[in-house]
Amino acid sequence: MKRETPHPSRFASHLLPQGEKAWSRRTVLASSLALPLAACDRFASAEPSPPNVPPLKSVSPAPFGTAIKAEQIDNPDWVALARANVSQLTPEWEMKMEYILADGLDQPRFDRSDRIAAFAQAQGMAMHGHTLIWYAQGKEAFAGLSGAAFDRAFDGYIAAVAGRYRGKVRSWDVVNEPILDDGSGMRDCHWSARYGHDGYSLRAFEQARAADPDAILFLNEYNQESVPAKGVQFLKLVERLLKAGCPLQGLGLQSHLWIDIPPGVIAAYLREISQFGLPIHVSELDCTLRTEDRLDLRGQAERMTAQSARVTELAAAFAALPQAQRFAFTTWGLRDADSWYRQGEKDDGKDKPLPFDSFGRPNPMAAALAAGFKTRA
Ligand code: G3I
Repeated sequence: MKRETPHPSRFASHLLPQGEKAWSRRTVLASSLALPLAACDRFASAEPSPPNVPPLKSVSPAPFGTAIKAEQIDNPDWVALARANVSQLTPEWEMKMEYILADGLDQPRFDRSDRIAAFAQAQGMAMHGHTLIWYAQGKEAFAGLSGAAFDRAFDGYIAAVAGRYRGKVRSWDVVNEPILDDGSGMRDCHWSARYGHDGYSLRAFEQARAADPDAILFLNEYNQESVPAKGVQFLKLVERLLKAGCPLQGLGLQSHLWIDIPPGVIAAYLREISQFGLPIHVSELDCTLRTEDRLDLRGQAERMTAQSARVTELAAAFAALPQAQRFAFTTWGLRDADSWYRQGEKDDGKDKPLPFDSFGRPNPMAAALAAGFKTRA
């Protein structure tokens, strides 16, 4: 099922007050005079690596994590970089229905998620389970099921997966991305068709609670801080679930950031989401340099300056949370080439969305994270 990957251009106009829209057009015109430079910039060497960036787990005000694919366990460079910088791992895709149910409901595959769990244990790293119930996956595996058979499969899947990793994961993204991209409401999906928009979350959290009473159970969503309407919808859902007695214990802020989020918006949202008093997981931080604005001729240096400002703002806002609410801070990969933004046809070969370059050297983002964490009171 092709996933829509929202880009800034779709939302930027919603975010920028009228005056700033004019600003962005003026900038474009000015930079069209700089076209030759912009063209040169495209071939400029990568930004110089910032000096003296400390290991990120040593400066983070909470466990610092990253996403992992099983194949990376066989990459000594990746393992060395992970050991130096992280103390927590999130399986990027092999603990999802996409992999576990690839051969059907009656032939679950746990080889790769087991391998990741064993690696984390061997490295003394915590593991965050990702993700049990997601609108984007499971439709094929559950096709043809209805009524009690569907319920048995839904409950059975959560019991099997969360039960298998009981004592091995610290926490779970029990439900992932329930809100529509524009924030206008809840997504319709095969889970909501059976249990209702809130109902499938209620059932999933209750099943996860029964399967692993010790894991901290999260609701996880993207673009909460960059699409105000989506953030509002997420907070309303959290309130409804808590009022309904849902064992929801943590809030996942994926933070797939954009460089054009207006200054202050990220920090304001973290203050907003912290009002529930629940642990907060910055769960999937990356920040693409790309925008879909074809007239955006900013060079890499200017884009990375904007990226650093947004990442520092997020890291500082997270560091300012009460300690009990700083669950973990996770990047969605370590090296640029490991990023989902750099896979397949999405790859423009130039994006630098993660803290380290493809050789494992610190990007400006790593320095931006350290700078933001240092602001902790
Ligand atoms: O490794 C296999 C390769 O051997 C095979 O040839 C190829 C074609 O089938 O697939 C490769 O696996 C892909 C995997 O990423 C590793 O690149 C899977 O097909 C692909 O579905 C998987 O995509 C993941 C995606 O979630 C869907 O699970 C991305 O890595 C992962 O970054 C992305 O992560 C999501 C979070 O779970 C939720 N928040 C948004 C985030 C980004 O979309």
